Amino acid sequence: MATLTLNINGASVTGPVEGRTLLVDFLRAAGLTGTHVGCETSQCGACTVHLDGAPVKACSVFAMECEGGAVTTIEGMADGDDLSPIQAAFKEHHGLQCGFCTPGMVMSAASLLKENPKPDEAAIRAHLEGNICRCTGYHNIVKAIMAASGQDVSAVAER
Ligand code: FES
Ligand code: FES
Repeated sequence: MATLTLNINGASVTGPVEGRTLLVDFLRAAGLTGTHVGCETSQCGACTVHLDGAPVKACSVFAMECEGGAVTTIEGMADGDDLSPIQAAFKEHHGLQCGFCTPGMVMSAASLLKENPKPDEAAIRAHLEGNICRCTGYHNIVKAIMAASGQDVSAVAER
């Protein structure tokens, strides 16, 4: 058993790890259970976090590979009770139902808007290819991301 230190949401976090410990399991063991475990095979995107500013599926990264890195999880998105603009848009536009996929969707959306502040519908759908939602049909998720980027959502196609 080794010890790992990461900067998570701006705070230094140290904990025990084995060589096989996945980043998602390290985060959840640290009490950050907003990052969900779905498929554990890098397909569903429920475990998406940012590692050194880039989105990663935390079930596909060994925690020890991240030594000294900076991780942002869904818990780092809101400012206390104030939701981030993306979270607020998901709430307003009903971009979630059961909420299982939502942390990963929000983290993925945040990385998209960082690269492309005004993505069109096609760009949003393409970016979310690695995030699976079993509830919403994606329509309201796309709407929420367009709204978070300050765009008119009335033209988002119903599917
Ligand atoms: Fe990581 Fe599904 S749990 S991609
Ligand atoms: Fe249920 Fe997306 S809201 S899986």
